[in-house]
Amino acid sequence: MSTRPPTAAVIGWPIAHSKSPSIFHHWLARHGVDGLYERIAVPPERIDAFLEAFSTHGLVGANVTVPHKEAALRHAEPDAVARAIGAVNTLWLEDGALLGTNSDCAGFMRNLDDAAPGWAEGAEGALVLGAGGAARAVAYGLLERGVRPVLLANRTRDRAEALAAAFPGTRVIDWARRDAAVGEVGLVVNTTVLGMKGKDPLALDLSAARPGTVVADIVYTPLATPLLIDAAARGLPAVGGLGMLLHQAAVGFEKWFGIAPAVDPPLFDAVEAELAGEA
Ligand code: ATR
Repeated sequence: MSTRPPTAAVIGWPIAHSKSPSIFHHWLARHGVDGLYERIAVPPERIDAFLEAFSTHGLVGANVTVPHKEAALRHAEPDAVARAIGAVNTLWLEDGALLGTNSDCAGFMRNLDDAAPGWAEGAEGALVLGAGGAARAVAYGLLERGVRPVLLANRTRDRAEALAAAFPGTRVIDWARRDAAVGEVGLVVNTTVLGMKGKDPLALDLSAARPGTVVADIVYTPLATPLLIDAAARGLPAVGGLGMLLHQAAVGFEKWFGIAPAVDPPLFDAVEAELAGEA
């Protein structure tokens, strides 16, 4: 009989730079939970076999990151949100079955609710920039909360069209029209990689924004992206991406260890200090 405490892991390839272990170790210590959280590097050619035999690895569940989220969707029983997004990033075992969800949607929405309470009241529509997996998670969450319309703008218009076809309530606008669209919505969300360390900033003119328009970025390196700095300088509520990362991690923690962990200033401080150490 193994005496190992309940163990979860993050599975990816490569996995060395994942922030997840420090978040989970903080919570395990903070909440006095007897559990473990490990990194497991699984190369692409082994992921199918790994997931097929998931219940034999001694894990209660796992986070799944790049490039394995689509494989996880194939091997787990996905919930509605994971099916809509087309990717699973959180796995857990229930009565021997491997179940999966995508926590990016809950992570984004909980962070928005925390950082910009009341955002939905004035939000007569949202502008979502990007059309990757993160855009799907954000669009799904906003539509579920009744935000209409959700305008989608992406450099490659075809990808936005594909997303719009799957999500009624969204409408594609041309990437070149994004500045004007800022004035038509109560919420602007960057889900592209622009603004991330090493990438170009997102070119978005916020001058048409109505007072109170919330500007959210899912990028968290740097914590304050050029977009968020610009929004704050204009007096607009600015919501950073780190909170989304922390809130999405909380979904797995609760499933595996049975406690809703604290997403609060001490956690932000700990993860921000780690990110600063890497800068
Ligand atoms: P994820 O699944 O994590 O959201 P992704 O599928 O790689 O990531 O999507 C990245 C997003 O950033 C896409 O919307 C991409 O636009 P394209 O679909 O046109 O590739 C966007 N992006 C990346 N570099 C960009 C750039 N230089 N200008 C505009 N958009 C960019």
